[in-house]
Amino acid sequence: MPRIQLLPETLANQIAAGEVIERPSAVLKELVENALDAGATRIEVDLLDGGRKMVRVRDDGSGMSREDAALSLQRHATSKLRSKEDLFAISSYGFRGEALPSMAAVSRFTLLTCEPGALKATRIEVEGGRVDRAEDAGGPPGTTVEVRDLFWNVPARRKFLKRAQTEQAQCLETALRLALPRHDVSFVVREQDRVLAHLQAGPDAAVLPARAEEALGREVRGNLLQFAGEARSTRARGLAVSPQVEYGSARNVWLFVNGRAIRDRSLTHAVLRAYGELMPHGRYPGAVVFLEVPPSDVDVNVHPGKAEVRLADARAAWDAIFHGLTLLLARGDWLQKPSHAVPETEHTQRVAEALQSYGSHLPSTGWMPSQTQPRTHTPTQPQTQSRTQTPAQTELPYFKTLRYLGQLHRTYLVCEGPQGLVLIDQHAAHERMNYQRLRRAAREQKGPLQPLLIPQIVQLSAAAAARVGEAAPLLRALGLELEPFGSTSAVVKALPAALEEKALPALLADLAEELAAHGRGESLERLQDALLARAACHGSVRANDALTPAEAQALLDALDQTDYGARCAHGRPVVATFTPAEIERRFGRDYQTHSHAAPPEVL
Ligand SMILES: Nc1ncnc2c1ncn2[C@@H]1O[C@H](COP(=O)(O)OP(=O)(O)OP(=O)(O)O)[C@@H](O)[C@H]1O
Ligand SMILES: [Mg+2]
Repeated sequence: MPRIQLLPETLANQIAAGEVIERPSAVLKELVENALDAGATRIEVDLLDGGRKMVRVRDDGSGMSREDAALSLQRHATSKLRSKEDLFAISSYGFRGEALPSMAAVSRFTLLTCEPGALKATRIEVEGGRVDRAEDAGGPPGTTVEVRDLFWNVPARRKFLKRAQTEQAQCLETALRLALPRHDVSFVVREQDRVLAHLQAGPDAAVLPARAEEALGREVRGNLLQFAGEARSTRARGLAVSPQVEYGSARNVWLFVNGRAIRDRSLTHAVLRAYGELMPHGRYPGAVVFLEVPPSDVDVNVHPGKAEVRLADARAAWDAIFHGLTLLLARGDWLQKPSHAVPETEHTQRVAEALQSYGSHLPSTGWMPSQTQPRTHTPTQPQTQSRTQTPAQTELPYFKTLRYLGQLHRTYLVCEGPQGLVLIDQHAAHERMNYQRLRRAAREQKGPLQPLLIPQIVQLSAAAAARVGEAAPLLRALGLELEPFGSTSAVVKALPAALEEKALPALLADLAEELAAHGRGESLERLQDALLARAACHGSVRANDALTPAEAQALLDALDQTDYGARCAHGRPVVATFTPAEIERRFGRDYQTHSHAAPPEVL
C-alpha cells in the first residue's frame, strides 16, 4: 500500500478552512461577498454572541437552483471562473469555490436559497462537512446562509476565538469594509435584536460620508474632504479626513482596490507621507482610498483571505494616492471647515433646516449631504452675514478671507474669518514659512548661505559636539557649515539666510538632540526634514514679539503662499477656529439649553 494517500474530502475542507475561515468575521466576509456577487441590493447580517454562536447572512440576490445549491458546497465549485484567462481579469469577489465547503466543514451550516420566480426554495443542512438533509422549503427569493457554532468540531481552533465583544467589533468592521465601496447596496448588521449598523443605499456622494462616519468615528463628521489623483492607468479617489482629526494608529487608513478592501503597507505609507508634517510625531491620519486599476494589472490570488493583492504597477498606485492627497492637503482647503465640529442635535438640525427654507445659504461642497455639515447658523446673524460662505468666497485663499483685528498676548494674531473667530499662533506660522524656505533651498542644493565674517564658536556638551561634527556633511546640505572645534565645541562658518546668528547655540544643541533621537533605521530624508524643522523653529519670530499690523498682515499673506500653511513644521496647529456656535454657548445663547434666551428679533 502506498504511503501517500488522498485526504478525505471533509478533512481537506477543514484544512482549507484553516486558511480562509479564521474567525466569525471571516465567515461574514465570505458570505457577504457571495451575496454581492449574486447581485444583492439588500444584505442583512445577524450575529449571536458576536458571531461565535451564529453568523447569518440573508440577501435578495440571484439565488440558486437545487442542483447549483448542492454543487456550491463542493470544493472547487464556482460559477465565477471558467478558464485561466478569467483568473487574470477577475471582477467578482469570489473565484476559488472553496468558501462555502470550508465553512460547512467546521460549523453547523444551513443554506436556504430560491431563484426569483421559482416555486420552491431549497434547504440544505450540513453538520461538520456531512450533508444531513436537502429538501424543498419555503423562502423568499435570494439566499440565506447560517453558520452556527463555528469550530464546534475543531476545538483547537475554537480556543482561539476571542470574547464575544471583540468578535462582534471585528464583524462590524468587516461589514463596513465591504459596504464602503458599495453605495448601491443597503446593509443591516444586528446582534440579536440590536441594530449595530444600518447603512442605507443611495447615490455615492450622499452615502459615502455617512458610511465613512460609521467606519472612522463620529469625529470625522463635517471633516471629510473629497480627493482624486491619477498616475498612468491607476486612479485614486476617496475621502480624506481633515488633519484636524488625529488618531493613535494608522488603522483608520482604509484602502480598496477595485472595490476590494485590502491591507498594504506601501499604500498606507503613501497616505501617511501625503499628510506628512500635518501630523505631529506619532499621530496618524484617517482616509478612505479607492484605487481603480485595470483588472489585468491586479493579481487578487495572493492571499488566502484575499486581503492583499499584487499590483503590476504599484508605483502608479502610490503616486496616484500621494498626488491626489497632496493636492488637497497642501492647498489648505480643509481650513474652510471649522476645527471643532459642533455635535449635531435634532434641535440644531431643525434650526439649520428652517434657515435653509428661509433662503439662507447653507454651505455645501456639492458632495456632502447637508446633514453631515456640522455648522449651524446663528439665528441672530443678519442674513447678509450668513452669506459669507458663498462658494465664490470660499475659493479665496484661506488667509485672504481673514480680517486681522490685532495681536493677543504678543503671541496670537486675532482675526475674523468666515467660520468665526480665528487665532493664529504667530510663532508656529512663521516657523512653517521658514521651514518651507529652508527646505526648498536644501532641495535645490543652493541654500542662500550666509558666510559669517567672524566664524562663531559654539560651546556644546562633548556628546553633542561629537554628533554635530559627525553630521557636518549632512548639515552642509541644509546650509549650515561647521567643523568640530576641540572636544566640546564647533565652529560655524556659514548658516542659511533664514537663521540668525544668535540662535546658533540653542539650534546646535537641538540638532544634536535630533540626531541622537533618530535611530539608524530612519531615512536620510526624514532626518533632514526633522533637522529643517528644528532650524525653522529657531529662525522664527517668537511668542512675545510685538508685531505691527503690517508685519502681521505680511505673515498672513505669506501663509497663503505656503503649502500646508495651517501646521507648523512640528505638526502643531497654526490656526484655531472658534465657531459662532461655540461663542454663543459661552454667552448662554444656546437655545437648546437656554430656552428663555430668545433671539433678539423676537423680543
Ligand atoms: N448568496 C449566494 N447567492 C447566489 N449564489 C451563491 C451565493 N453564495 C454562493 N453562491 C454560489 O455558490 C458558489 C460557491 O460559493 P463559494 O463562496 O464557495 O465560492 P466562490 O464565491 O465561487 O469562490 P470563493 O471561494 O473565492 O469565495 C458561487 O460560485 C456561487 O455560484
Ligand atoms: Mg465566495
